[in-house]
Amino acid sequence: MGLKSGRLANGGQSLLLVNIAQLLTLRSSKPGPRRGPELGELGIIEDAAVLCQAGKIVAVGQTREALRDSWYSKNHKTVQEIDCRGLVVLPGFVDSHTHPVFAEPRLVDFEKRAAGATYLEIAAAGGGIRSSVAAVRKISRRTLGEKVLAAFNEMAGYGTTTIEAKSGYGLSVSSEIKSLEAIRSAAERWPGTIVPTLLGAHVVPDEFKADPGGYVREVCEKMIPAVSRRKLARFVDVFCDQGAFTPQQSARVFAAAERHGLAVRAHMCQLSATELKPFLKFGPASFDHMDHLHAADLIPLAQSDTIASLVPGANYFLGHPYPDARKLISAGVAVALATDYNPGSSPTPSMPFILSLACTQMKMSPAEAVSAATINGAFALRLAERKGSVEAGKDADLAAFRVGDYREIAYWVAANHCAFTLMNGIFRNARSLAS
Ligand code: NIG
Ligand code: FE
Repeated sequence: MGLKSGRLANGGQSLLLVNIAQLLTLRSSKPGPRRGPELGELGIIEDAAVLCQAGKIVAVGQTREALRDSWYSKNHKTVQEIDCRGLVVLPGFVDSHTHPVFAEPRLVDFEKRAAGATYLEIAAAGGGIRSSVAAVRKISRRTLGEKVLAAFNEMAGYGTTTIEAKSGYGLSVSSEIKSLEAIRSAAERWPGTIVPTLLGAHVVPDEFKADPGGYVREVCEKMIPAVSRRKLARFVDVFCDQGAFTPQQSARVFAAAERHGLAVRAHMCQLSATELKPFLKFGPASFDHMDHLHAADLIPLAQSDTIASLVPGANYFLGHPYPDARKLISAGVAVALATDYNPGSSPTPSMPFILSLACTQMKMSPAEAVSAATINGAFALRLAERKGSVEAGKDADLAAFRVGDYREIAYWVAANHCAFTLMNGIFRNARSLAS
């Protein structure tokens, strides 16, 4: 383990996790996101230990080496030990796609779908994303921030320590700014890491129904510049699909983001296939959903650094066919998994449930699902230098599960075996977070 004296010179709380039954390090010998067979490599250490200090991981190895270490013998009184007997520990989940800024669940849509209506039919009849807008415009920023914080805490209760959080139910300059400010206010009070994304181009709001081009101009010329000036978002997202924005409009949104120094990602190919090549030149961090795909786009996508973020919670909830994960993985596309937490298509905070869907419905192995939900999620957020694996120098973001084998995290359906998380070195008991 090599706990050398001097490593902890900066002060701060030192934590030593010991007796970890299985530690999934996800350490990699190659740079870049995991592709193909690399997705199955978890770098497992049995009877492991992890030393953290001042929010960072400083050493990773076996328990017996850690306890024998001369630095530890001298300093053990200042180190808080956490006994992880009977626990599987892995990098905290990186949920790289969520929409937590909404005021109310969408129960009417839910009932209509149960009665046989489709997502597009419900949206065309006045439900869908637009029906979440009025309540978000009305609610105070403070109350919205409380709701967002509650969602972050709930996600942490399932082992998530980094969350991408999108706006997208305000759909006006002021309400999108209010939504991003709610994310910021919640992020300041949450020990994990939040990556904010502007999704002003989620759908065209009612007042621009007759002039969708006018709304795209509003997004490009007012919303994106205002958000960039206030440093409220790291990414700009667009919903490029039927009933939302055309490829041409989406490309305009990407170009505006680029002009204002914001990176891009997109909801792509959820309801229909869109040609990806024109978008790849913007270097998007990820294309999310990817339920449909033109065959000609498979190789260019595999050769790019863009992550395909699969969100099978939405397929489950809407009753849509699942994306072809096996085809993407065999072609060498870097695949991530995320909840897509939102009130319309995927109201789940649970990454373990997403792993379960990945294995049972998309035929990913449990190991592939873990890599997709951790290190590749970190790449999808351009945070892989700090997140997604348990290696010295990375942020102390860990999730511990009370199971005997990591495969059980995906195996138990709709169960939660998360025991605790460590977020930037801060310990949170999972039971006190998840409801
Ligand atoms: O990722 N597809 C676009 N956005 C969300 C759905 C949002 C909603 O229905 O409220 C999604 O599925
Ligand atoms: Fe989404």
